[in-house]
Amino acid sequence: GPNLQYITVEKKGEQQNIGLITLNRPKALNALCNALMKEVSETMDDLEADDSIGAIILTGSGKAFAAGADIKEMKDQNFAHVFRSNFLAHWDRIAYACKPVIAAVNGYALGGGCELAMMCDIIYASETAKFGQPEIILGTIPGAGGTQRLTRIVGKSKAMEMVLTGMQITAEEAEKWGLVSKVIPPDQLLPEAIKLGEKIASLSKLSVAMAKEAVGHAYETTLQEGLKIEKRMFHSTFATDDRREGMTAFVDKRAPKFTDS
Ligand code: CAA
Repeated sequence: GPNLQYITVEKKGEQQNIGLITLNRPKALNALCNALMKEVSETMDDLEADDSIGAIILTGSGKAFAAGADIKEMKDQNFAHVFRSNFLAHWDRIAYACKPVIAAVNGYALGGGCELAMMCDIIYASETAKFGQPEIILGTIPGAGGTQRLTRIVGKSKAMEMVLTGMQITAEEAEKWGLVSKVIPPDQLLPEAIKLGEKIASLSKLSVAMAKEAVGHAYETTLQEGLKIEKRMFHSTFATDDRREGMTAFVDKRAPKFTDS
């Protein structure tokens, strides 16, 4: 939109079907102030409502993805206010997206920046990216998933080490630990993320949304419940045109034409 102050939004890819959100507050290393996160939230609403968009990419401008919540904005807050306003609750928009979201982490992803990346479905990282939860150094603790999502992704010992010391890890370590799916030279990060987005966007939007939701349940529930949900969602793909088209195209040895229905 024309009124965005802290982020930019563009359509990318050959079919212009990739929504690219760039956190654009480079002088503050894209620190996530309230107004910035509000813009991210509203832009996510727009991109999810836009039928031409099949995948969303989140990246940062300059040398950071995001250096965390805005410390200057938080410095003088008190308990009553953060509690009563449920501070950071509105950060969750990306975690509840129906469309696939790819984080292209170009530099520092610290504190809320790391947490924001973990709300995305897939993380690609530049060779220069750094991840960390440094809140402990500020006398606070992670407040947007850093103690929960990180632990489920990298396990207890590594999560504890990161959260209790505030240490930064490299992109290479993050990949080895399963936080990141691919490490990419800086100048290729965005093109590679767009290519990934295009690959996903070329498939049935309906099947992609269902697959994403099913994988998401693995982070929300027990194995038995998750398997039950998966099975029912699998069965429900048999109510879609795209499932019939996909299998028919395979048998006919031709490319499928999905209608997202
Ligand atoms: N909030 C507000 N401003 C920030 C910021 C943040 N999180 N991170 C960086 N900045 C600002 C700096 O204050 C500085 O501004 P000025 O030029 O006005 O002084 C500017 O960005 C550049 O930063 P540096 O000079 O520090 O850059 P550097 O290259 O020397 O260091 C860095 C880079 C290691 C990332 C360092 O900036 C840093 O440690 N930043 C803070 C990281 C952090 O603690 N993040 C956690 C925040 S708490 C949180 O996120 C809570 C949560 O769970 C949601």
